[in-house]
This record gives sequence, C-alpha cells and structure tokens, in this order.
Amino acid sequence: MGRGILHCAASVHRKELVGGVMAESKIPAAVNTAGALIKWVTGRLDSSDVYFGHGTDNSRDEAGALVYHVMQLDHHAGNRDYGIRASPKNLAEIQALLDTRIGKRIPMPYLLHEAWFAGRSFYVDQRALIPRSPLAELIVAGFEPWLASKDAGSALELGTGSGCIAVACALALPHMKIVATDISEPALEVARVNIDRYDLSARIQLVKADMFAGLSGHFDLIVSNPPYVPAAASEDLPAEYGHEPPVALYSGPDGLDSARRILQDARKHLNAKGLLVLEVGEQRERLEAAYPRLPFTWPELDHGGRGIAVITAEDLSLSGGALVAGAKDD
Ligand SMILES: C[S@@+](CC[C@H](N)C(=O)[O-])C[C@H]1O[C@@H](n2cnc3c(N)ncnc32)[C@H](O)[C@@H]1O
Repeated sequence: MGRGILHCAASVHRKELVGGVMAESKIPAAVNTAGALIKWVTGRLDSSDVYFGHGTDNSRDEAGALVYHVMQLDHHAGNRDYGIRASPKNLAEIQALLDTRIGKRIPMPYLLHEAWFAGRSFYVDQRALIPRSPLAELIVAGFEPWLASKDAGSALELGTGSGCIAVACALALPHMKIVATDISEPALEVARVNIDRYDLSARIQLVKADMFAGLSGHFDLIVSNPPYVPAAASEDLPAEYGHEPPVALYSGPDGLDSARRILQDARKHLNAKGLLVLEVGEQRERLEAAYPRLPFTWPELDHGGRGIAVITAEDLSLSGGALVAGAKDD
C-alpha cells in the first residue's frame, strides 16, 4: 500500500501551537503569487502536526500539489508559473482546503480528489486507498527485465482500489488486457471513474471478487498491492490513515493474510512463463521467513519504497510444501 507505513509514527512532523492558535493561520495579503503561496503553505504545514505519506512525503510537495491544483497550473512546467497571481476565489479555496487538511488531518489527495501515480493524475475519494505504491516504477519500466513484455498480453490485478495500477499497466503496455478485481464495490466505483478517464474500458475489465474466488483463465502477469498492515498497528498510525478504507490497509495479525492467499493460488492462474509481482512493503522479512524455499527477487527501487516481491510461475511450481507458510528446508 505505501512507503514506510510502519515508520510513519516516528517521522511525523510535530510542532506545538502557541496558545492553541496558529500564529499565522490566514494567508497574508502580500502572499498572492503561486510561488509565494507555496512557500507560505509549506510553512503552515510545517508548523502543524500533519503527517505526509499519501503521495507526497514532505510539506513543500504537498503545498505545491494544493496550489497548482487550485490555480489549475501545469505540474509539468516546474516553477515557470510561480509568478502567476491567484484570484480571490483561488485564495479562499486554498485557505479553506488547508484549514481542513490541518484541522481534520484528511490527506490532501482526498481533499483535492486528485492523486498522482506513475506520472498520471487519478481521481480519488475515501472509497479507495490513495495511490502511492512503489510499483509505479516497475510498471513504467514495463516490468523489465522480469517480464518478457513484448509477449505478455494478459494481466490480473488483485485489489485494484482506485484502479491506478491497472490503468498505469495498460498505458505502459499498450497490447495488454487486464482483469482488475476488488472485494470492495465502492472501490470499484472509483476505479471505474479512472478507467473511463483514460478511455480504457475496452482493455480493463473490473470484477468484484474475493481474491481468486470465481476467477477463471490464465494470465502472463499477476500484480497486487494487497493490504499488508498488521491489524494491531492501526492504533499507532497517524490520523490520516483513519480516513482510508480499513479493508485496503489491514490484513490479519502479521499483515500477511492477503499475501498468503495470493501465493497459495497464483500459480493456478498464471501461464507457464508467467510472473507474480506482489508488494508486501515492511513485511518483506516476515514473508521471506514464512516461505524460506520460495526464491523471491526484490527489485532495487530508485524512487524509494521497498518490499516488492517478484517470482516466476516456474518457481511457484516448486514442491507444494514450499507454498505452506513456515515450511522449512529439508
Ligand atoms: C493496498 S490497497 C491497493 C489499492 C490500489 N491497487 C493501489 O495500489 O493504490 C488494497 C486493495 O485490496 C482490496 N482488497 C482487500 N481484500 C481483498 C480481497 N480479499 N480480495 C480482493 N481485494 C481485496 C482493498 O479493497 C483495496 O482496494
């Protein structure tokens, strides 16, 4: 689901409010260009106790997302538009969104109804997890060198949420047809919005399913960012996570319930030369300990994040015992 989720409590930016009131909580009149607003919003975020971990990992990027979104500036133009003046309506909107962000600890993408993934904009709301998976890096690279992408024509995504992974896969691999599933009907409604936005309904089929139940067929690629936070961790996570669907975050006592189900049945749904790409984030060591005979590959990620396991159908075909979590070598 996301980067460093279990480390987040330690990295929360905390600064006390003076007398319970934020000294400079209103945008000053002199602060009216995009660049000045980003600087001012950054300072205000820094002096609050918000947590960054839902698509951005720092106050400045989040300030940029807010100001550029409201002023409808081009994210790809860098700081070219910093001199553009905000309208009174823009200023009022930035003020209101920032107050809600800080006051209610709602992640910024839910307030803007926009998240960025693999360089693309996605619609989001609280029905689905905010896109932030490090899988984006592998998707943009067409899963090379693990997937013979020229020959890979079919994929199954388990737990599609907003649909960001399925959409990014379809855009990176234009010949691929994708079945994207989720157990949550509300999440599938969000995925539908994004599939329509990118005009991909001919290539991405949405299916409501509990993991592999009721699914048929064989795929060249199975990809999943399933829930993998241990249930008990919910009490320690920053307030922002409380706005996301619990079904998208938590997965049993050790966080691996979903991963175990995927590993158990993936082989039956993969073609002989197929590939499973499974994100488990901070649970990497637990997964390796639970499946000591499965030869997972863990790609190095240049853009941050960790815990993406890659394994071929051939390796999943190892003796049945290897797929029993906790099975030891002879
Ligand atoms: C960590 S979120 C990932 C969402 C999206 N793929 C992403 O990367 O942003 C996990 C998703 O798996 C779904 N999910 C949880 N349990 C499931 C199950 N048993 N079968 C199918 N989907 C499930 C959740 O509803 C959620 O959308």
